[in-house]
Amino acid sequence: MEITPEIKDRLEQLNKKYAAIGQDLVSYLDGLIFANPLTYWDYIEVDALLSLQKPKTDYPDEKIFIVYHQITELYFSLIQHELEQLCHNGKIISAAGQDQGWNETLDVDFFISRLDRINMYFETLTQSFEVMRFGMEKEQFTKFRMALLSSSGFQTAAYRRIEIACTDLKNLVIEELRTKLENTDHHEQLDNIYWRRGAIVEETGEKALTLRDFEKKYLQEFHDFADQYQPINIWKKFKGLAAEDQKNPTLVAALRTLDVNVNVNWPLVHFRTAVHYLSKGTGDEKGTGGTNWQKYLPPRFQKRMFYPELWSAQEKLEWGKKWVEEVLAESITTGPTFQRKK
Ligand code: HEM
Repeated sequence: MEITPEIKDRLEQLNKKYAAIGQDLVSYLDGLIFANPLTYWDYIEVDALLSLQKPKTDYPDEKIFIVYHQITELYFSLIQHELEQLCHNGKIISAAGQDQGWNETLDVDFFISRLDRINMYFETLTQSFEVMRFGMEKEQFTKFRMALLSSSGFQTAAYRRIEIACTDLKNLVIEELRTKLENTDHHEQLDNIYWRRGAIVEETGEKALTLRDFEKKYLQEFHDFADQYQPINIWKKFKGLAAEDQKNPTLVAALRTLDVNVNVNWPLVHFRTAVHYLSKGTGDEKGTGGTNWQKYLPPRFQKRMFYPELWSAQEKLEWGKKWVEEVLAESITTGPTFQRKK
């Protein structure tokens, strides 16, 4: 076989790469000789992935419920993957493909392109939520959900981490305490974060098991995560840019879109689904363990907003309003079974 200039060049590059880390090129070439070619099923871990669905009942639609939650968790992990890079200014990868740590400063084009990705993931989730809303038989859902108590999507830690990495915690404090706690430290703000008033037992006002279990498992982790991410969250990154860059209309639009995606559009489609399955039309069925979900879930009641400085007074006033009014009106007029809207 002829050793072409291309092959020689690659061998020299490989030699340089391994010499730099004190390794012997020939041993690595031996490794190539003995290694099996990679297969799709091993690389993607298909068997492991498809072994992770373990329904608790015999109702066939429970599998849809599990798979869609898992799909959402995977998208949330992609969102966290992008947020980690953004908050640390992006990775430096050497010409030889090696991780060289984080950049010193955040590039505006990188900022925009990664926000675009996060928005794309959220929009995909919002659109695909139809798989939940229209993709299961209500009769099956109302039965198999009883076998899943007291677990709830409320307990997804990824969603809470995404929030902590996106904004100053003062924006996520329970609405009526927001002004009062505006200048306190982020631990006190986290102790008064909006979701600690979710999953409350409607009749007693006590924390439901769903919330107690969630706090027990994750609260300390969230405090540690906040220590790490509050100083470098997305809003801090934005405010750290040159004044000129903060006026970049594409960047501002991407941040506003993110705010609406996370705090209005996804919560609304999720709320709409909860109404579809849990509302009886006349009154309401209990959420996970009899929770206050009807008062808690609609975004207009909580007014969570990552970037209040980017919205006008009017926009803030109408946060999530129109949609919820539509949903509530629909639940009252159409009763338990909604027809799919094309
Ligand atoms: C038929 C489908 C679903 C129904 C009926 C439903 C119902 C509910 C209800 C009633 C709550 C309020 C807390 C509680 O009472 O448990 C809740 C919270 C929540 N669910 Fe779902 N859910 C559904 C699907 C999902 C999916 C697929 C996810 C994705 C992981 C998810 C994520 C969440 C999150 C993050 C919260 C907390 C929201 C907040 O704190 O504002 N849910 N859900």
